[in-house]
Amino acid sequence: MTLQITLQIIYLIASVTFILGLKFLGNPSTARKGNLIAAFGMGIAIFGTIFLYTDAEGNHLKNLPLIFGGLAVGTVVGWLAAKKVQMTAMPEMVSLFNGMGGACAMLISIIEFQHIQSTFVEPTALAALSGRLLIILLGMIIGSISFSGSMIAYGKLSGKVKDKSFGMQQFINIGLLLIILGFAYMAIMGGQNQALWFYLVLALSLLYGVLFVMPIGGADMPVVISLLNSFTGVAAAFGGFLYDNKVMLVGGILVGSAGTLLTIVMCKAMNRSLLNVLIGNFGGGGGAAAASSSAGFEGSIKEVNASDAAILMKYAKKVIIVPGYGLAVAQAQHVVHELETLLESEGVEVKYAIHPVAGRMPGHMNVLLAESNVSYDKLVEMEEVNPEFATTDVVLVVGANDVVNPAAKTDPSSPIYGMPILDVEAAAHVIVNKRSMKAGYAGIENELFYKPKTSMLFGDAKKALNQLVSEIKALG
Ligand code: TAP
Repeated sequence: MTLQITLQIIYLIASVTFILGLKFLGNPSTARKGNLIAAFGMGIAIFGTIFLYTDAEGNHLKNLPLIFGGLAVGTVVGWLAAKKVQMTAMPEMVSLFNGMGGACAMLISIIEFQHIQSTFVEPTALAALSGRLLIILLGMIIGSISFSGSMIAYGKLSGKVKDKSFGMQQFINIGLLLIILGFAYMAIMGGQNQALWFYLVLALSLLYGVLFVMPIGGADMPVVISLLNSFTGVAAAFGGFLYDNKVMLVGGILVGSAGTLLTIVMCKAMNRSLLNVLIGNFGGGGGAAAASSSAGFEGSIKEVNASDAAILMKYAKKVIIVPGYGLAVAQAQHVVHELETLLESEGVEVKYAIHPVAGRMPGHMNVLLAESNVSYDKLVEMEEVNPEFATTDVVLVVGANDVVNPAAKTDPSSPIYGMPILDVEAAAHVIVNKRSMKAGYAGIENELFYKPKTSMLFGDAKKALNQLVSEIKALG
């Protein structure tokens, strides 16, 4: 009995660490601590369960070698993957890991179904059994959708799977969902074919996950991953119900609600509804398509070299740097910080303008700049920084494109129309650093590059910023 009480206390502590962890994750300066606190909570919950759990007959967990074998393999694979992953491939990894959570929920349901099938049930306990089966099936449906959907999202983000939609896709998906629910009902009703219905539900749920994610555009994958993440949380919460395990329930609910909130926040940042994301096919083709023409924009491209750009920046009062995906590709976060400190030492006020969907994952720019020890108070969110551009001498756009594209405000036919952008045009000068005239993720031209105020500083971000730093130093 005391073992069980100790275990419940451990679960309570673990639940508190999850909540604290989420709270700390809300700010880049405390995010690392938050992650460690929540991981500690998960650790004590896992080891508490392994060593202290007893069933109604007082039996401890069996199969310890298998459990520790699984833990060891998972730890080594997860550790190596997390160590090796490039910052630009982070969304893929999140998707893969999320898929594993969905797969766990799916496997739990399969195993528990097999337990039910192999146990004789008194007729009087049939109603309770139906309730249990309902939980098993819901956990399995949501877990399998999350698993197969996350695998497709992973494939899309890594360029291995292309967007594919066909006519009536949405109707087919809704039809499939209804069939899954119908078969689940048959499985709960029992009878000779119960296992057949159950495994049909499993197969069709996996198929549904694939069909659900397949037509969604590449640029919308982070929103979808966040949504699938919330599915995994809900599936885990069903596991908590199944085993009457409080910490699994709390953890699942927290993941489910955090994923849902993040989904809503991301949709808001792009000024789009979730429905539009799910059926809109925005940013298809994985992005980075070459823009073929200047789309009839007035004006022409004006190039600037590093030495002229250095003069403009050194003698400015205020410079705002707009980082984008290209900064991550070039791994130019350290040199951008060097440029910032150099300019500040010359008496220039420097800030970074952070667009909520700059890069390829939520908080991408914050994480990147934190890596090079840029002070957090220099990172200014979009709503706050937009009014500041009018009093800025030079805006330096580094590897950003869609997040500064005026088409989002002016062209209703543009796929990014309605997405709030950074109003860099309000500044006196705009210097854009990128390698070519190629488009960004949404695959569209950018009129900003043709504006009279804009000068293009072509080249890889790391190289170009290094040159800028040397030129500013050379100015003395
Ligand atoms: P993008 O619009 O994707 O533009 C990035 C630009 O960086 C490209 O035009 C590219 O031009 C340039 N670039 C690439 N490598 C470079 C390098 N080594 N040096 C210098 N420049 C380089 O990026 P953004 O402005 O950050 O916007 C993000 C886009 O991704 C939005 O459409 C957003 O909706 C979408 N998205 C966001 C997320 C999240 S949650 N953050 C996730 C997925 C997608 P060149 O090839 O000419 O150099």
